[in-house]
Amino acid sequence: MPSPVMKLNSGYDMPAVGYGTWPLRGRPATDAVLAAIETGYRLLDTASAYGNEDAVGAAVRESGVPREELFVTTKLRGSDQGRGSTRAGLEGSLERLGLDYVDLYLIHWPLPAVGKYVESYAEMAELQQAGLIRTLGVSNFLPEHLAAVTAATGIAPAVNQLQASPSHARPALISAVQAQGTVVQAWSPLERNSGVLEHPAVTAPAERLGVTPAQIVLRWLLQKDIAVVPHSASPQRQRTNADLFGFTLTAEDVAAIDGVKQLPVKQDPANWEEF
Ligand SMILES: NC(=O)c1ccc[n+]([C@@H]2O[C@H](COP(=O)([O-])OP(=O)(O)OC[C@H]3O[C@@H](n4cnc5c(N)ncnc54)[C@H](OP(=O)(O)O)[C@@H]3O)[C@@H](O)[C@H]2O)c1
Repeated sequence: MPSPVMKLNSGYDMPAVGYGTWPLRGRPATDAVLAAIETGYRLLDTASAYGNEDAVGAAVRESGVPREELFVTTKLRGSDQGRGSTRAGLEGSLERLGLDYVDLYLIHWPLPAVGKYVESYAEMAELQQAGLIRTLGVSNFLPEHLAAVTAATGIAPAVNQLQASPSHARPALISAVQAQGTVVQAWSPLERNSGVLEHPAVTAPAERLGVTPAQIVLRWLLQKDIAVVPHSASPQRQRTNADLFGFTLTAEDVAAIDGVKQLPVKQDPANWEEF
């Protein structure tokens, strides 16, 4: 089930549907990633902070799929931000992954109070020139953070990975990011424990179209040109979560999901800190 791709400002293509690897670690993570690759996922989303880059790298090697057919994303953790430590952070990730480059490297959180995300991004631009990163991106960036890194380097982040789901739809933020030519990629698209998968705006089209509520939510995001990285440890759910291109939501379906009650954003990029 190959995913369509989205064109990035780096010239590379990114699968619109990827596999999120948090919170698995160790052999269960390797087995889940192997199952995902077997299902057809080609984008693997990991992070230094997840403690599973070694397990993801093992799956890449064990899969036998040529490296150039996979798209590996990892992320700069807060404690590695800054001049000099950004390079060390990336080199540590590459060593754990067993790779000599990553397809997409994201600043995991802007941490504006720390004040190092601009210098970190500038160092990432040098690491891209050195061939260690194919595409530069960020995660959890607000428009002012995007504008700051773009002004400092002349390179707009190709991707901004943000929390987005029916109860965290964030239309103004997403439009502002997309207007800068940056692809939005949704994390926690299925919003576990929020009740979204049981909401009638989601279950009604699922029943009509003969698909799962999770497929409806993921398709709703894709129809807004938002890439997705759903996670499942279950090969069965991995399969359905990637099977998103044989049906289409109507404008009425989309509008009904747009109307789902919004929940407050707990991890606000303006002040959320994790290292
Ligand atoms: N950049 C960031 O700050 C950030 C933050 C959080 C996450 N992420 C990335 O985004 C990825 C996805 O986010 P997430 O893992 O938080 O949430 P998610 O993908 O929205 O949801 C995963 C949860 O939903 C369940 N699930 C999966 N498919 C399902 C289905 N078809 N029906 C019902 N339940 C289903 C999974 O359980 P089972 O495993 O039992 O199927 C799991 O508990 C992460 O893995 C990570 O790579 C990034």
